[in-house]
Amino acid sequence: MIPTLRTPAYGGDWSPEQWDEATIDQDIHLMGEAGVTMISLGIFSWAFLEPTEKHYDFDWLASIIDRLHAAGIAVDLASGTASPPAWMAHTYPQTLPVDKHGVRLGFGSRQQYCPSSPIYRAAARGLVQRLAQRFGGHPAVALWHIGNEYGCHTAQCYCDICADAFRVWLRNRYSNLTELNEVWGTAFWSQRYTAYEQIMPPREMPTFHNPAQDLDWKRFCQENLLSLMRMEKEAIREYSDRPVTTNFMGDFSSLDYAQWAKYLDVISDDSYPDPADPAAAHTAAWTADIMRGLKAGKPWLLMEQAPSAVQWRERNSPKRPGQFTLWSVAKMAHGADGILQFQWRQSVRGSETFHSGMVPHSGKKSRTWHEVVRTGEVIQRLAPVMGSSYEAQVAVVMDWPSQWAKESAIGPVSDAPFERTRAWHRTLWEAGIATDVIPVDADFRKYRLIIVPELFIDYPDCAQRLREAAQQGAHVIVEGPSGVVDEHMKAVTGGYLGSLRELVGVAVSDHAALTGEVISPSSASDSRGDAVNRLSRAVGVPSACTWAGLSVVSEPLRRCLERIGSPAPDMRCGMWAEEIMPYRGDTWQKTTDIDIIAVFDGRGGGADLSGMPAITRHLCGQGTAWYIACDVDALSRYAIATLVCAYARVRPVMADLPDGVEAQRRGPYLFLLNHSDKSVELRGIIGTDLVDQQECRGHVMLAPRSVMVVDTGGHAALESTAKGKQ
Ligand code: GLA
Ligand code: ZN
Repeated sequence: MIPTLRTPAYGGDWSPEQWDEATIDQDIHLMGEAGVTMISLGIFSWAFLEPTEKHYDFDWLASIIDRLHAAGIAVDLASGTASPPAWMAHTYPQTLPVDKHGVRLGFGSRQQYCPSSPIYRAAARGLVQRLAQRFGGHPAVALWHIGNEYGCHTAQCYCDICADAFRVWLRNRYSNLTELNEVWGTAFWSQRYTAYEQIMPPREMPTFHNPAQDLDWKRFCQENLLSLMRMEKEAIREYSDRPVTTNFMGDFSSLDYAQWAKYLDVISDDSYPDPADPAAAHTAAWTADIMRGLKAGKPWLLMEQAPSAVQWRERNSPKRPGQFTLWSVAKMAHGADGILQFQWRQSVRGSETFHSGMVPHSGKKSRTWHEVVRTGEVIQRLAPVMGSSYEAQVAVVMDWPSQWAKESAIGPVSDAPFERTRAWHRTLWEAGIATDVIPVDADFRKYRLIIVPELFIDYPDCAQRLREAAQQGAHVIVEGPSGVVDEHMKAVTGGYLGSLRELVGVAVSDHAALTGEVISPSSASDSRGDAVNRLSRAVGVPSACTWAGLSVVSEPLRRCLERIGSPAPDMRCGMWAEEIMPYRGDTWQKTTDIDIIAVFDGRGGGADLSGMPAITRHLCGQGTAWYIACDVDALSRYAIATLVCAYARVRPVMADLPDGVEAQRRGPYLFLLNHSDKSVELRGIIGTDLVDQQECRGHVMLAPRSVMVVDTGGHAALESTAKGKQ
């Protein structure tokens, strides 16, 4: 992944500019004790690298890099442009970003720049170029770290410069205003433009924005940030051929990481699951699987995680004993080849004073330090794992523009970004099935099961490739709302699902969202009110519920539900439902290649849907295409996933694992992660545990929140003999 690194990167962000000489000396010594192999430098150092405009001071950085190099520590060198210095805001206030309400944001925090500002851009380029010239060939510099968490605080700037840049972007996108007017649907509400100058960013407005304008704005904003990153990369390339990265933020929705990935040599990610969340290990797995999917399975780098607590939540739980090592190894299980933290030494001043660091305020006597040293050892022992690949036969498709489109649309749904994609991933993770998260343009042919939730935008090309995959034997599950609008927010007509209709054999005729609450409670409970509510109290509001019931028609699915302990056949969805119709043929009865798997049964808020198909299966060449016309709940997802996995001959990494134990595999390495509070016993484990360097001869014990990484030498019998007991 990083050619100059022979062992996994381990270390973190370090800001020597915050410390005196004695502390710096001590730090370099402590890094040795902790097994640190890589340090990120200069991320927020602009004010020290260019103390006054165009006067650069790199000598202090050169001395730090040399000292790290002498200590055998590689450097992830930042371009330093994430936070411009005070002189810039003061001399050029127009470089400060403007929010949707027209408020110019002030100096004193970070990331306070307008991405379109020519002044910011020129200054950033000047700094990066000089850094690359000076350090680009330094033997310690293993990686370039461009910017930092692009878009984290200001993903959109609404200033006049950005408005101009937006217009230029639109001129390139559309051949003329006539086309723009057509695509944006400006015949609506008298929005027709007669000159480009009239077009504005979607600033605060009297009421609903134009959805197409809003979606184009989101595209522009993310491309604008991407162009910044690319500009810095080009500046680096003038002097240095070392790999470049920028740190992503997991499932952050404002940037289309699938596009960004194309310009990066190394994918890196920042990960902050909440230790107070019992599903935190899933969050870690989910974002890791996203990262791995961005470059078709290539190993990636964990750029940041907290050694213990963060400071930015309302309540900040520390990591539990063992959890720091456990979650670090879990990232490697999901394809990371290096583990870095935010940050090396805990700050004693500033807004991150109470964010944990590898060297805590209390120093070496702390539990955190002890775990940092232990994790350093463990990570180095995992060096053989580097480069080995994670093989998944199941994929969940993730699409950023679809999320933007869903958000830009006024209705029909409003759930959190990637909620359904994440939910399906969670189901597979809980079931122990290795899963890739892949963009819409990924190669679908290697998967036996492909799950496509909430693909709001209709992509004919993607639908075609999914159909080919199904025809060749893959099983595809599509869940609504999908194929609702085209890339310009124009509604799909003739039945939603658009080009996916051919694949799943059905089309959506109506959306039937549940409202979840009674809008105006009648006073029927108060008998004195009967007369005044004579009309309205007799009116039923069947959608006023947070769930609707499904009745299972398919016998195999019924058996799956029984196996997982559901009082069969209890299936439910949440607040999203659709009415569907066969795509070919007039009635369900006459459509022979469609099986109805489940129907809405009228329970909960689904009275008006009663009897209508909720889940269908379409025979498609060698494979099948399932359609789910609602947001099925966790239990239903689990039953569907295990059934379709069985049809697809996809098995969990290990069967019959005790509760709380996750198994993952990279090449011959079997990762066993005990997330639970109990010691567990596993059988059928044969090989060498790299973590404790012991031979496993079948029967092993795993302490609470502990890990094993077993070099199985490709032991084939493992899966079938594995048994777990609690
Ligand atoms: C982000 C930033 C870091 C730091 C951490 C704190 O990930 O990149 O600089 O602020 O958050 O959790
Ligand atoms: Zn701006």
